[in-house]
Amino acid sequence: KLIVAASCALALVAGTVQAKEWKNIRIAFDVPYEPFEYKTPDGELTGFEVELAEAMCKEMDAQCDFVIQAWDGMIPGLLARKFDAIMSSMSITEERAAKVLFSEPYYITPGAWFAKTGETTDPTDTDAMQGKVVGVQRGTTMDNYVTENMSDVVDIKRYTTADDMVLDLEGERLDMIFVDYPVGEQVLEGREGFHEIGEPVKLGEGVAVAMRKRDEDLAKQINEALDTLKNDGTYDEIMNKYFSY
Ligand code: ARG
Repeated sequence: KLIVAASCALALVAGTVQAKEWKNIRIAFDVPYEPFEYKTPDGELTGFEVELAEAMCKEMDAQCDFVIQAWDGMIPGLLARKFDAIMSSMSITEERAAKVLFSEPYYITPGAWFAKTGETTDPTDTDAMQGKVVGVQRGTTMDNYVTENMSDVVDIKRYTTADDMVLDLEGERLDMIFVDYPVGEQVLEGREGFHEIGEPVKLGEGVAVAMRKRDEDLAKQINEALDTLKNDGTYDEIMNKYFSY
């Protein structure tokens, strides 16, 4: 006890507060967002980021709790300490980086356009796009992109969940959707009657874990774990399981 007290005092004197080692981490996912995070028919949470999180937690020897959080409450929920990290295909943007701390990126995803097979309009053709009804998930980089660049041209419909957006495309209440490429590719591309149109658009600087700014110790721990998984082949293994390209 004396030694602990003495070393604490020393640490204080030296101004070096011991970095905390995180042993309990709550990680938030917005589902369904296949292949990143979704539930199997029997309700089990799975996906690229879920398995990556599991591997990371094992590597850090940490007990992790997985929390389901709607996308529009992600950053507020993090800041309100409902959970400690976001792993929900969140792309690094300047606006978000002002509020949260990002890990090193672990994936890159562009935005891409998907529609029913009969719809072939080039999304960059402003004249042809006039009046088209376009779906995006609210508060995503895709939402920001169409809001900034296409507000006067198209009719933008914003969805709380990605699957409601897909349902409206199926039901022809939308002409096209703009979504993270892998999501459109896996949910729609393989299905009869849907296809990708135009070119994917680079948005953000890659997908990363988001944490509170003050939790630099957690970010360091997570970056080290990610590094190890990238070097020992675990990352590639998980990646190959969920992405076919
Ligand atoms: N990558 C996009 C963004 O950063 C969309 C992510 C949406 N993720 C989700 N799990 N619903 O804004």
